[in-house]
Amino acid sequence: RRTYLLTGAASGIGRATAARLRDDGHTVLGADLQGAEITADLATPAGRAELTERAHELTDGRLDAVIACAGLAHFRPLTLQVNYFGAVATLEGLRPLLAAGSDPRAVLVSSVAAVHPPDPAIVDAALAGDEDAAVAAAQAAIDRGEGHTVYGSSKHAIARWLRRTAITDDWAGAGIPLNAVAPGTVVTPMTAPLLGDAAMREVVDASVPMPLHGHARPEQIAPLLAWLASPDNTHVTGQILFADGGADATLRGDTA
Ligand code: NAI
Repeated sequence: RRTYLLTGAASGIGRATAARLRDDGHTVLGADLQGAEITADLATPAGRAELTERAHELTDGRLDAVIACAGLAHFRPLTLQVNYFGAVATLEGLRPLLAAGSDPRAVLVSSVAAVHPPDPAIVDAALAGDEDAAVAAAQAAIDRGEGHTVYGSSKHAIARWLRRTAITDDWAGAGIPLNAVAPGTVVTPMTAPLLGDAAMREVVDASVPMPLHGHARPEQIAPLLAWLASPDNTHVTGQILFADGGADATLRGDTA
């Protein structure tokens, strides 16, 4: 039996992953805005601090795995604050608890949207850790009518943060694999409004082509997150695993 902390546990991919881990006999501490063991708003510094404080209180200072699923896809700076800064704070804040755990593992959720051209100003500010500048860059993109780039930029930035961070002394050096799953289109409350509208669905399918099996259900993404967070994963780290029905291969071709 392992102890997992999973953000975004109240809905979609996070909820399906929590259910899968509980079915496998593990203890899962969910975190979300509501409807989970830990209530924390990962868009704010106070909420991020609340997450780590509550995690300490609810465990004996040990976690075996952290899975960061919480995310948003609005054309708003908030999307960047949750998807990038909230995810980084989750992983950095809980890393000391992982260091005290057994076969510790960490996984976050990027997206195939990370391969769409990002907004460099957003990505650079995020990777520099400057939340105010990143929010300003996101707002500038929205004001230019390019609000759609905020989500992809948040997922691109978190994927690059992962590549840099996974191989450092704090993670690889401490024996903690750190990976990401990048889904294609998954049928969840996040995508339901888009997929329910015929015209929007065409736009989504044109930007995320999925020749293998089409749209995924959250239960089809959960096993990959569970495996990356399991002791069976000894040597996969710093990877962004596309669980996207072939979207990345379609969009980027035979680049290795
Ligand atoms: P969802 O909307 O069903 O679940 C996301 C959860 O995150 C919700 O329970 C929500 O309350 C929580 N959340 C949002 N803002 C938060 C905040 N400030 N603090 C704490 N929790 C917060 O969405 P879904 O589809 O399950 O998405 C999960 C992750 O997968 C997200 O990071 C999303 O970007 C990513 N993803 C989703 C895809 C899809 O097609 N559904 C595709 C690729 C990536």
